[in-house]
Formats: sequence, structure tokens, C-alpha cells
Amino acid sequence: MCGIVGYVGGRPAGPILFDALQRLEYRGYDSAGIAVLDGEGGVFLEKAAGRLSILVKAAGDRVPQGTIGIAHTRWATHGKPTIANAHPHIDCNGDYLVIHNGIVENYRPIKDDLMARGHTFSSDTDTEIIAHLVEESSARGNGLEEAVRESLGAIEGAYSILVMSVSEPDKIVAARVGNAGGIVVGYGEGEMFLASDLPAIVPYTHKVAFLENGDLATIGPQGAQYFDSNGRGLDRQPIIISYGDVTVAKGGYKHFMLKEIMEQSQAVTNTLRGRLSFDPPEISLEEVPFSQRELADFRRVVLVGMGTSLHAAMVGRTMIEELARVPAEVDNASEFRYRNPVIDSSTLVVSLTQSGETVDTLAAMEEAKSKGARIVTISNMENSQATRVADHTIYIRAGMEIGVASTKCLVNSMAALYLLAACMGRARGVLDGSQMATMVDDLARLPALVGAALETGPLCQELALVYFRMNDFLYLGRGINYPMALEGALKLKEISYSHAEGYQAGEMKHGPIALIDQDMPVVAIALKDRLYAKMLNNIEEVKARDGKVIAIATEGDEYLASRADHVVYLPPVPYLLSPILSVVPMQLFAYYIAVRRGCDVDQPRNLAKSVTVE
Ligand code: G6P
Repeated sequence: MCGIVGYVGGRPAGPILFDALQRLEYRGYDSAGIAVLDGEGGVFLEKAAGRLSILVKAAGDRVPQGTIGIAHTRWATHGKPTIANAHPHIDCNGDYLVIHNGIVENYRPIKDDLMARGHTFSSDTDTEIIAHLVEESSARGNGLEEAVRESLGAIEGAYSILVMSVSEPDKIVAARVGNAGGIVVGYGEGEMFLASDLPAIVPYTHKVAFLENGDLATIGPQGAQYFDSNGRGLDRQPIIISYGDVTVAKGGYKHFMLKEIMEQSQAVTNTLRGRLSFDPPEISLEEVPFSQRELADFRRVVLVGMGTSLHAAMVGRTMIEELARVPAEVDNASEFRYRNPVIDSSTLVVSLTQSGETVDTLAAMEEAKSKGARIVTISNMENSQATRVADHTIYIRAGMEIGVASTKCLVNSMAALYLLAACMGRARGVLDGSQMATMVDDLARLPALVGAALETGPLCQELALVYFRMNDFLYLGRGINYPMALEGALKLKEISYSHAEGYQAGEMKHGPIALIDQDMPVVAIALKDRLYAKMLNNIEEVKARDGKVIAIATEGDEYLASRADHVVYLPPVPYLLSPILSVVPMQLFAYYIAVRRGCDVDQPRNLAKSVTVE
């Protein structure tokens, strides 16, 4: 969480920092701050509570023309989202400015020691101690790099920081420790950039280097020097990245989330492009260069992820078990990493992370790697940390997703999982040519089916008008659509702040049924599949208790229309691909409810798109 940017070069830093930061706001928007050295021995420092736009307005045209600066957008961990707690933080003498992403775990004893030595603090953050540690180190005669390096030796945790000094006004020092989000160094002509994520700087340069865990870097207008925690020089060569789709315009939509939902048909096409062949029918994933033998030899698959990506992983488990007949399990990455999982080199770990930066997912991958597992990550972000930890990456090619609530990345992740499951099934001899032909055919029709699912928008909007005042919802699903019941409930919670629970429909009678009445609408995914009859029973159980049922059904199912209060129809779709469709009306329903409730759909309170703290 938290977005950090830095600039040093020949142009005024202020507009560049604001522009870059605006593309990182999905990382947190509790407060924002900027510091620019004015070129005359002074520093302009401005902070604001709330969104970046408030800071930009507060700074107005007072930002000096100085050509070096740092800026930050915060997702609060230690201390409330106030102006005092906004970054950059500064030492007692007003010389060292620090911005930070992550957590300093031992900040409390360090702060007590610093206070005992006469330091005064103006915030409740863990970050501020770094400025004071650097101040003390430099008072011992150390230059900026050495002072930062020495200070980091005292602190524990996973974090990345930028430090700038009024008395050394030609450089910024960056450091990355652990997996709490990376730092990308951008190379321009006579100017250099720093940011926590690529989207911030791609309009300025495609020549970048990434800090590795434990790296420090000093950047000046002419380049960067890298060194390790012992001060030894490191060779980090920049690479040229291709980063096509960084468009952040809403394209006529009121919110990014709606735009991204409506893009899903095209997004799925992008995931499939070049990966299907028709004569003979085959599915190929060039990014997974395991030999057929290796793919066949995995004895187990473990899928990990967080949030919406965890729901994709749950769908992937069913796809892999059904298509490849290999045991598959799913774990929440934050649990997996701490339970000493039993895995070895015969385990394939599949991590799902659209950002490639989620700290718990990265830690789960490291855990699996240390035990000898092979790792494939399914991600949307080129060169993200997950792609560098994994053995292989399957890119989902969804294009930039800005809305904090993930939509098209989920749909694309599920499509990518299907491709992986099919490749494994083929390698293991489970799927024959005729089954491949059917599957390739199904996949080729998938974008059009998603397009049909998007046509439920007007009905979902009407339903939202009926139900937007309700504060509790139950979502029910079975089999491969149970994770989509969880996802439907998650979307509603995230963006409308209504309480919602997703349940296996079979579990309903073991507790949630006690809550059912007219004031708790039930969204039931009841497609015409192998579990249809069971879902009908559950819907009857809800109706018998005066519950309101919104059913997601298969076109032509008139019987369900006679039992449910409302029916949203989807075209017939094969079971294993059905979550890719069933989730669409639930995304739209959540969206329209949130809009009707007046919520900030793209930036829901307390959430962030990349979660880089535990
Ligand atoms: C946050 C986001 C979710 C996302 C989750 C996992 O909670 O708000 O939308 O699903 O992180 O993110 P990842 O980037 O790992 O898929």
C-alpha cells in the first residue's frame, strides 16, 4: 500500500510528481504529501488529509520550480489519516525528508530511545523515526547514503523508502527491504524517476531497473548507483519494458469500475489471443515452458491468493482437478505462509495476483520456493515482484485495472486458469483430441458469452433500485460457483458498505437460514448445471421463510422464474466456464447499489488496490 514517487532532473519536479502520484492513488488515498527542494536551500513541504486532489488544491501554484522532489499517497497503518501523519516526514532540523511504504515493526522502542535523546516527534507514524535516525547518523559525519544505510540496520520490517536531504540537494536515496512493495528506478534523458509501481512513470520512460530485496540506490539527474546493506556496489542494469496499456481515462464511463466491467468481453479475448489453435485444436501457454513430462509429473497443485484473487484460485482448483485429474488445494496466502505447508518439488504452486505485489502472496511464494516447489504466477502486471519470484508467469493481459474492486482481472484470471488446467490435462493424457476440440470451441465463444452477460446491466440497475436500502445480503452458490457467491458478497461489501455473506448453498441450513426474512435478500446462482436441482431445493428453503430471491439462471429456465422473485438470465455455458459469466451480474448489481447509495465506487473507504502490508 502507499504510493511513493521521486524525481530529479532538469524540469520542475512538482507537476511530474503530482502526475505520477495520481497514477498510484489506487495504492492508498488516506492522505497525500509532497516535498520539493526550491533550489535556494529551502524546501517546500505540503500535506493534506484525504485524496490527492485535496493536496493539489492546497498546494495551488505555490510549488516552487525546484527540480528534485518526492511525493506520497498514504494508506494508513500507524496513526490516523491526518495531516500530521501524512508523509513526507522530517527530522528535528528540517533537513531529512522521508516517504515510506510498509511497516517499521520495532518503531516503538526506537522512538522511545530517540525521545530519551531529545528528539521531538510530530506524528504517530512508524515512518518518522527513520528521519530522526538519519539525522543522528549524519550528525556522526555520515553522508546521506551512509546515513540511510546505517539507519536501516536498526529497523525491522518490510518496507521501501525514499530519503531526500536539504543539505545534499542533488540526490534521492531509495531502499527496499523485504516484500512490502518494490521500487522501480526510471531512466530519462538527464532526469531520473523513482516509484513504487510502473504505471507512475511509464509516460516518462520505459527504461527501468528494479530494486531487489535489500538494495539501496542513489539517483541523481545523470543516473543511479546501487549498493547493498554493507555499502558494497551492485550491478543493476536497466531493461526496456513494453508497457502498452497504461490508459487511465474513464472513456465516457462515470467510474473506472463500470468501464472495467464493460471491458470484460474484450479483456477475455486478450487473455485467449494466440493461445488457442484450431487445426488441430490445441491450447498452448508459451509462458509455461515446463516439458510435457514435467507437467505430467506434478503430483499436487496448490493455489494461493488473497481477496478476489483467492476466489479465482478456488475456481482454478475445480478446473485443475476436473481437467487434469491431479489433486488441487487452495489456500489463503496469508495462512499458507505461516502453517509450514507440506510441499516439495513435486508440487506446483500457482499464485494468483493481479498486481503481482500483494505481500502475503509474495511471502507464500517464497515459502513454497524455499521448500522446492515450482511456481507459476498468474498476474496482470509485467515485471511485478511476483513475476520475478515465480519460475513462470502467465499474463492475463486485462489492461490496466484502476477500480480498487477487481473485476476484469478476476474474469481474465479464471480464463487463464482454464488454459493452464487444459494444458496440464493434455500433458497428463486426461484430455483427448476431441475433448480439446470442444474446449477450444467453448473458449472461442467465451468473449461473446461474456458480452451477453454484460447485457444484464439494465436489469441489474433496476434490481439495485429495489434493494439498495437493504443492509444485509446472502449470496449462495454451489460447486464451481460457490467462490462466485463469495465474490458477489465481497464486491457488495467493498463498494457499497452493505453487509453480505457468501455461503455454500448446502451450508445455509447450518446457520445462515436463521437470518432469512424479507429484509435479507438472497442472491442464488442457480444455473442449469449438475447442481441445479440442489440449488432449487435451497431456493425453496429460502422462499419458505419469506426470503426474497434474486436468481442467476440459465436462459429459458421458466420454472425458476416462477419460484424466485427476480431472475437474471445468462446464456448456456459449460460448467467449468460458468463462473466467468455468473460473476458479471453480481459485479453490476454491487456497482449500481453502491452508486445509488452515494459511495465512492472507485476508491472505497479503507481499501487499497495493492496490499503491501501484512
Ligand atoms: C486488494 C484489492 C483486491 C484484490 C486483492 C488481491 O484487497 O482491493 O481487489 O483482489 O488485494 O490483490 P492481487 O493484486 O494480489 O490480486
